[in-house]
Amino acid sequence: MRIIAVINQKGGCGKTTTAINLGACLAGLSRRVLVVDLDPQAHATLGFGVDQGEFRLSSYDLLMEGRDGLLSSDMIISLNERLDLIPSDVMLSAAEPVLLQRDGREHVLESVLAPLDGRYDFVVLDCPPNIGVLTFNALYACTEAIIPMESGLFALHGLAKLLETIDVVNGNREVPIEVHALATMFDRRTRIAHESLEELRKHMRGRVFRTVVNFNVKLKEASGYGMHILEYDPDSQGAKDYLALAREVLSARPSARKRRKKEGFLKPVVTEDGVLFTYYSPEATSVHVVADFNGWDTSGLPMENVAGTGMWQRFVPLKKGRYEYKFLVDGRWVSDPDNPRRAANEFGENSILEIA
Ligand SMILES: Nc1ncnc2c1ncn2[C@@H]1O[C@H](COP(=O)(O)OP(=O)(O)O)[C@@H](O)[C@H]1O
Ligand SMILES: [Mg+2]
Repeated sequence: MRIIAVINQKGGCGKTTTAINLGACLAGLSRRVLVVDLDPQAHATLGFGVDQGEFRLSSYDLLMEGRDGLLSSDMIISLNERLDLIPSDVMLSAAEPVLLQRDGREHVLESVLAPLDGRYDFVVLDCPPNIGVLTFNALYACTEAIIPMESGLFALHGLAKLLETIDVVNGNREVPIEVHALATMFDRRTRIAHESLEELRKHMRGRVFRTVVNFNVKLKEASGYGMHILEYDPDSQGAKDYLALAREVLSARPSARKRRKKEGFLKPVVTEDGVLFTYYSPEATSVHVVADFNGWDTSGLPMENVAGTGMWQRFVPLKKGRYEYKFLVDGRWVSDPDNPRRAANEFGENSILEIA
């Protein structure tokens, strides 16, 4: 399941239009799609023709009730065979101060969307025009981000700030977000549109969609009538552009997204009183440090699983000296491949640690 956050702290740059119509076009190309309206202004909800009185539960409940709320509820509105919506309303603005009081406040959406894997091919998140707790939730939940930029008015300063924020989030994620800018409201006849697009491509070093969304009044009319563009006018330029964008999104290679941290050692951390050993393996069920300092006892020094991280750790009080160690991972012997200091013996190789 790919999760696309449509973000830009600037209002009016085409986020909602993109979330609605990219979502509808991915569904039109036979993908199962869920659009989540994460803006208290509820423009995506209205743009899909869903009125405020029509639903009881919304993205507010999604964030407040968590996983159980989502799975047991009628929070999901079916728009067509393959296109679903979680609507929002002004209540969502009340979620922000509540979330701010909670631990893990930026990871709520990530955990509530996780069980939907398998049910959808794409989740598209329409974000509010600011970088608050809702947008951070989207950034931790997503696999990729689209930044719509209004052509001719590209605010490159604002873009730089947004990319900085994404870098901070990436520093806390295992797999970085794949980011692409999207030129919207492009007016082919003007020189400024072409020039600013060139500038954007330079600035983003290639991370700009080849597809450009032209200015097309049908897109505006469609949302006014509460329809996506394939419904309102499938022959319009707007429909062609968003279908082209959907195809470009589909052609992105999934391999990079699947990249995961490899099982293995983290460099032992030497402190004044000893050494912290760390091994990364989300799949392992037991990991032991086995070493000369515990007489090579295979049950002596079990490592502790740090909940939810895949990390196994064990602190061993040690004085100055030279030590040989190995790890026993679910009964398998492993020596540290990144430690060039090794000693061979009849059983294979031990890693060497010297505390000076
Ligand atoms: N390609 C386009 N051509 C014409 N009008 C557009 C286009 N994209 C967006 N609009 C209009 O511009 C306004 C702002 O777009 P919107 O998608 O709501 O931006 P945001 O969600 O970033 O605030 C809306 O009235 C929308 O209908
Ligand atoms: Mg919007």
